[in-house]
Amino acid sequence: MSDQSNLALEQASTEAATLREQLNHHNYSYYSLDAPQISDGQYDQLLRRLETLEKLFPVLCSADSPTQRVGSAPLALFESVQHAVPMLSLANAFDDDELRDFERRLQTRLDDDSAITFVCEPKLDGVAVSLLYHDGVLVQGATRGDGFQGENITANVRTIKSIPLKLQGQGFPPVLEVRGEIYLPRAGFEAINAQALARGEKPFVNPRNAAAGSLRQLDSRITATRPLEMCAYSLGLAEGGNLPATHLATMSCLKAWGFLTNSLMEAVVGIEACVVYYQRLAELRPGLAYDIDGIVYKVDSFTLQETLGFVARAPRWAIARKFPAEEASTRLLDVEFQVGRTGAITPVARLEPVFVGGVTVSNATLHNEDEVQRLGLRLGDQVVVRRAGDVIPQIARVLPRLDDSLNAIANNQLKDIVFPIICPACGSELQRSEDQAVLRCTGGLVCGAQRKEAIKHFASRKALDIDGLGDKIIDQLVDAELIDTVADLFTLRVEQLSELERMASKSASNLVAAIATSRQTTLPRLLFGLGIREVGETTAKLLATHFGSLQKLQEADAETLLAVPDVGPVVAAFVEQFFSNHHHLSIIANLREAGVEWPDIQALDTQTLPLAGQVWVLTGTLASMSRGQAKAQLEALGAKVTGSVSAKTTCLVAGESAGSKLTKARSLEVKVLDEAELLVLLQGTA
Ligand code: IVH
Repeated sequence: MSDQSNLALEQASTEAATLREQLNHHNYSYYSLDAPQISDGQYDQLLRRLETLEKLFPVLCSADSPTQRVGSAPLALFESVQHAVPMLSLANAFDDDELRDFERRLQTRLDDDSAITFVCEPKLDGVAVSLLYHDGVLVQGATRGDGFQGENITANVRTIKSIPLKLQGQGFPPVLEVRGEIYLPRAGFEAINAQALARGEKPFVNPRNAAAGSLRQLDSRITATRPLEMCAYSLGLAEGGNLPATHLATMSCLKAWGFLTNSLMEAVVGIEACVVYYQRLAELRPGLAYDIDGIVYKVDSFTLQETLGFVARAPRWAIARKFPAEEASTRLLDVEFQVGRTGAITPVARLEPVFVGGVTVSNATLHNEDEVQRLGLRLGDQVVVRRAGDVIPQIARVLPRLDDSLNAIANNQLKDIVFPIICPACGSELQRSEDQAVLRCTGGLVCGAQRKEAIKHFASRKALDIDGLGDKIIDQLVDAELIDTVADLFTLRVEQLSELERMASKSASNLVAAIATSRQTTLPRLLFGLGIREVGETTAKLLATHFGSLQKLQEADAETLLAVPDVGPVVAAFVEQFFSNHHHLSIIANLREAGVEWPDIQALDTQTLPLAGQVWVLTGTLASMSRGQAKAQLEALGAKVTGSVSAKTTCLVAGESAGSKLTKARSLEVKVLDEAELLVLLQGTA
C-alpha cells in the first residue's frame, strides 16, 4: 500500500472510530436514558457517513459497528447454544393471598420475620433472550429454548437498536451475560401489521407473536425491518469484575452500560406494598406503550437469593403475579366442524363478534366432543369467552340460562350440538381415536379438506415459507383441481393463477416467483413441511441433524429412529409409515423433479459424544434438578433417555424414593447411579 493510501486509511479509521463512539453514545441517550440529544435525521447522517467510510475501507468494518444493524445473509438453520446458567421460569401467583403466602414461605425459610425488600417490575409479554458480552462486545444472542439449550440468534439480535453492540462506560465483568425480554411496542406492532395488510399478507395476532416471528427469521435483514426492543431484567453468567449486592443496583449498572431497563421498576418493603404496586400497574396497563401480562417480584438482596435457592425450574426468591385472563360474554351462533391436516375433526364455535384481550373474537375452538359436553353447550347460549396471552380464544363457561332461555329449550330454540357421522368435507367414514376423544376422517388424501390443509402446512412460514400463498388461494386451487399435491404447486403458471378470484396478473406473477424462490429450501423445513404425523418443527430439526439427508432418514428403521432424542415409538412408527407409502414417495420424487432442493447437512456426529449409544432411565425425585433437566443434560451428552427399564438399559439414575424401576434394574443387573454419582458424571463430562 502506498504511503498516501496508508494516510487516507489512517484518517478514515480515526473518523470511523469517532463516529462509532458518537453513534453508540446517542443510541445510549435514546434508549437507556430516554433523553435523545440529536434528531433522528442527524443520527442517520452520522450513520450514513460511517457507512460510506466502511464501504471505502472495508477493513474498518467490525461486527460491533452501528452499521451492522441492517442484517446479514440468511442462515440455513439456527445453531443450538448451551446456556452456561440455565434460563429458569417463574412460579405464578394468581391472587393477593397467593402473594402473601409467597412472603410467608420466604420468611419461614429464612427463619426471620422481618419485612423483605422486593423489586417490583412489569412482566413484559415478549420473548426471553440471553446476550453474551466478552470484554464489552456482544458476541452471542440466544433464545431461551427449553431453558438449557436455546438457538443462536446473534445475527437477529444485532439488528435491535436497544441492544448495545458494545457496552458503555466501565466496570463491567469481562464475561457478562445479560438477560431480558425482546418485545414489540404496541405502536411498532400496529405499523408492521398495517404494512402486512397493505401487501395483502396476513397480519400478526398480537405483539408477542409478531416479536417471536421476527426473531425466528433466518434472514436477519427481515428482523432488521421490525421495530423490536429489548429490556434487560437480570444477569446470567458473570465472570470477573465486581457486581453490586442487590438486583436493583445491578439494574442501574445495566442501564449505565447501555441497556434499556424498565422505568416502572421499583423497590418496596414488605408484601403489602407489592399488592399496592400490582393495583397501580393494573390501572396503568391499558395506557402503556407495550403489553405486559403480570408483575414480577424479586427478592432484592443477592445474599438472600442465594440462601433461598431454587425449586425445580424456578427460583424460590421470585414470583410472577399474573393479570387475570380477559373475558367477555357473547352468543354462540353456530358450531362448525373443521377437518384438519391429519383428518381430525374439530368443532369450532362461531360467535357474535366480541372484543376481548385486544382483539375481536368471532371463533373459538371447542377441542372435541368431551369439551362440548363438559360445558353443557347449546346453540344460542350466552357464553363467556376467555383469551389469555397467546392462546386461541376459548369458551370458559356457559352463562346461566334465564327463564326465557329455559323456555327456548322447551320450544326447541336452543339446539343441541350434533356431531357429524361422516366427514363433512368428503363424506368418508369417521373413526374415533384410541382414547375416544378425537374423531378422524378416514379419507386420507381423497379428502379435499385434508389435501388443502397439507398444502397450507407445506407453504406455511416454518415450512417452505411461500410468500403470498394464503389459505384462500390454496382452497381455490384445490377446488379448481389445479393442484392435487404439494408438488403440483411448482407447475403452476401465471395464466392459471390469474383466473382465480381476486388475483391480478401482477400478484399472479409475484406468486409464481415466490413459489420458484421457495425451491431452495432446507432439510429441516422440508421434513416439517411434509406433514409427517407428530413431526413438529423441533423433531424435524432433530431428525435432519441426526441423519443429515432425506435419503438416510428414509432408509432408517424404527430402531435407528429411536436413537434420535425426542423420538419415541409413536413418532418412529409415523416416520416409518410415512416413507413406506408409495404416494408419499412419488410426491417426494415429483418435488425433486420440479427442482426443489434441500441440501444435505452435516449430520451431528452423535457417535463421538461421551454417552453415545447408551440408554438411560431416570426414576425417583432428584434434589438438585428436575427430571426434565437431568434428561436434557444426559441427552446433550448423547444418551437416549427412556421411561422404562429393560435389558437394553445402560444405566438407571435412582433419586429419592425410587420404586419398582429400581427393583427391576437390580433384578436385570442394570447399573444404578444415585444423584451424587450422576452429578459427578455430569460435571466430569461437561
Ligand atoms: S425474571 C429467574 N423478569 O417471564 C428469573 N422475567 O417465566 C427469570 N419475563 O419467559 C425471569 N418480564 O422472559 C423476569 N421483568 C421480568 C420479566 C420476565 C418478562 C418473562 C421471562 C420468562 C418468563 C418467566
